Amino acid sequence: MSFWTRHQIFEKNSIILIGGILAVIAIGGIVEIAPLFYLKSTIEKVDGVRPYTPLELAGRNVYVREGCYLCHSQMVRPLRDEIERYGHYSLAAESMYDHPFQWGSKRTGPDLARVGAKYSDEWHATHLANPRAIVPQSVMPGYPFLYEAHVDTTTIADHLRTSRAIGVPYTDDQIAHAAEDLRAQVDPDSSNADALLKRYPKAIARNFDGKDGAPSEMDALIAYLQMLGTLVDFKLYNDKANLR
Ligand code: HEC
Repeated sequence: MSFWTRHQIFEKNSIILIGGILAVIAIGGIVEIAPLFYLKSTIEKVDGVRPYTPLELAGRNVYVREGCYLCHSQMVRPLRDEIERYGHYSLAAESMYDHPFQWGSKRTGPDLARVGAKYSDEWHATHLANPRAIVPQSVMPGYPFLYEAHVDTTTIADHLRTSRAIGVPYTDDQIAHAAEDLRAQVDPDSSNADALLKRYPKAIARNFDGKDGAPSEMDALIAYLQMLGTLVDFKLYNDKANLR
């Protein structure tokens, strides 16, 4: 019996054919999936990536709550047009502390993965309160209430603790000082600001919303936007990795 005649067993009997298909797919599946269980980490470690400061985390919570991800992605794809517009393509490590990730699936507005340090705090505050004050044809909603809403400093330590439970390496020291660090980040002249910078390298301490008083959700959201994409020094990577 030649090979081709034996193959008739599959062609004439659909149950055997299905069994054969499942066997072949299972082999492919095992080859792709099994190694993932043996790798220590599927995410390459990258210098500079650190967990969010308490204020940034609070801002990120506002971002998720307000559904900014419905119109904005946070992932620059490795395509020439995207790299020319937004900068170096996103690395997996850059969203390793995001739970849930904010890659998004729709761009009604531009990608925000590298928006940090692109505009001034004042630009962001004005734009968030009323986007049409800056871009007259913008369809983005205004969020003026963020100025009035205060960040709840009493629950921020719990947010850090919860993040730690799902794998973000916050230290006991960072959790113990969460509320203090949150207030210090909008008050750069305070005695706690230096301690904050030690706990979170490259953190920016500024009065983000330009108003005095307790940290507002505007402070938090701008602190978050201003750090997006700024942690990794891509000058170190450009020679090797950039498509340009
Ligand atoms: C209905 C869709 C929509 C939603 C929801 C939305 N945006 Fe936008 N966003 C846009 C559009 C469109 C633009 C481009 C026009 C403009 O600058 O206003 C934009 C622009 C921006 C920019 C400027 C980006 C750049 O590189 O110029 C930032 C920052 C921004 N949005 C942040 C936010 C944040 C934060 C939220 C949530 C609080 C949000 N957006 C919610 C549609 C949206």
